[in-house]
Amino acid sequence: MADATTRSLGFHSLTGEREAVLSLEGSLPDWLSGSLIRNGPGAFELGGASVDHWFDGLALLRRFTIDGAADAVAYRDRFLRSDTYSRARQGSFSGGFATGDGGLLSRLWGLLVADPYDNANVIVDRVGEEYLAMTETPRRVRVDPATLDTLGHAQYDGPAPAGQLACAHVSRDPDGTVVNVETAFGRQSEYHVFEAPAPDARRHVATVPVDEPAYLHDFAATESYVVLVEFPFVVDPLDIFRPGKGGFVDWFRWEPDRGTRVRVIARDSGEEVARPTAPPVFGFHHANAYERDGELVLDVETVPDATAVADLDLSALRAGALDALGGRIDRYRVDPDAGTVDVERLYDGATALPTVSPAVEGRRHRYVYAQHADQPIDDWPREVVKFDVRRRQAETFRTDADAYLSEPVFVPRPDGEAEDDGVVLTVSLDPATEQSALLALDAATLDRLARAPLPDALPFDFHGRWFPELDRATVAAGGGWP
Ligand SMILES: [Fe+2]
Repeated sequence: MADATTRSLGFHSLTGEREAVLSLEGSLPDWLSGSLIRNGPGAFELGGASVDHWFDGLALLRRFTIDGAADAVAYRDRFLRSDTYSRARQGSFSGGFATGDGGLLSRLWGLLVADPYDNANVIVDRVGEEYLAMTETPRRVRVDPATLDTLGHAQYDGPAPAGQLACAHVSRDPDGTVVNVETAFGRQSEYHVFEAPAPDARRHVATVPVDEPAYLHDFAATESYVVLVEFPFVVDPLDIFRPGKGGFVDWFRWEPDRGTRVRVIARDSGEEVARPTAPPVFGFHHANAYERDGELVLDVETVPDATAVADLDLSALRAGALDALGGRIDRYRVDPDAGTVDVERLYDGATALPTVSPAVEGRRHRYVYAQHADQPIDDWPREVVKFDVRRRQAETFRTDADAYLSEPVFVPRPDGEAEDDGVVLTVSLDPATEQSALLALDAATLDRLARAPLPDALPFDFHGRWFPELDRATVAAGGGWP
């Protein structure tokens, strides 16, 4: 049971930025070489102004560069110099997700069209040769991966269809092709599916109409299909022209009678080939999806309804209202020919931020990793779970100090054969010492291999990705190794 002080830890605001070679307890595998870049809110108050919602904190990029052969880890963090950040420095700090003043002008039009929101605090991912900080608008922010300096915006403006909302998460084919989905508001609103060889290049895959667009944080792409799971949390497209207050999520409504519509689009023809309906739930993340014997298998993290979104209000989180972190792993099995969907609960623990090995993205997977919380949930997760979907068995890891743990990121050993041959990286936050640390776990056993402590406490973050190409030499050459 956490007291109020420890609950507020992790939702605090940083002012400075840090850079250090970290001390290391234990030993890292010699093969582990590259960088973990994580993204998440780093400040909720600035210049006397503040935001209300966790998702509206200013993006803080955090990079751990690992040279396993030398047992060396360097850390650097930088606030993203977005337009949102600049305005916050000048005393005008209003979020775009769920915070914001009302006014006579349309709030949605302003956020999505006139001056698209750019506080890209969800993830840093690679598109072509570029590293982009991303959130749910198509206005991505380019980042130098060595220095974490902000390089400017990247928003597609070519002839292919584009929208005003984007999935924060891209999908990636085994050959590296990036796929994403944007929502375009209009008299007839549409979802546009596209492949992106680079931030400024786009191959149009499909456009499907939608009367009331659903909140799409993530989606699934397999070899033959793109699948949009429309949870019944939807927006009236005319709201984009109406005055009001709040961030864009405040315009969405929970409409359980719609059910969850699973929209299956064939990538070769661009046609929507099936649209079965499943019971109403809400969710942010897909763990993975793949095709097997003509069937589509989607492992999705769900919560009972979209109150999760409002529950991630900062004041609630700081008070310990963390039920929204209690996701379940559900398996959606879709038959595109028959137009049917079956839903089965795979894991009933309380999970958040599920991930799989990058080696199995879009292919059949055996292991899902996630944050894991005790139930009832009154505190931030203190465990990482490794769930074996074949045996339906869960193993968990927690630290001796019972520290909070971030989203786990699996790094496969090069040339490793078993799916869990590699390490799991997670960031801990010890409430007793108020100190964060990078932890490396043996993914096969969940034994701790190494711990690299930071000088102080980082606020909780959202997502990280591992970039093997950003090794120590590359980062040092770019001026990013202290
Ligand atoms: Fe996400």
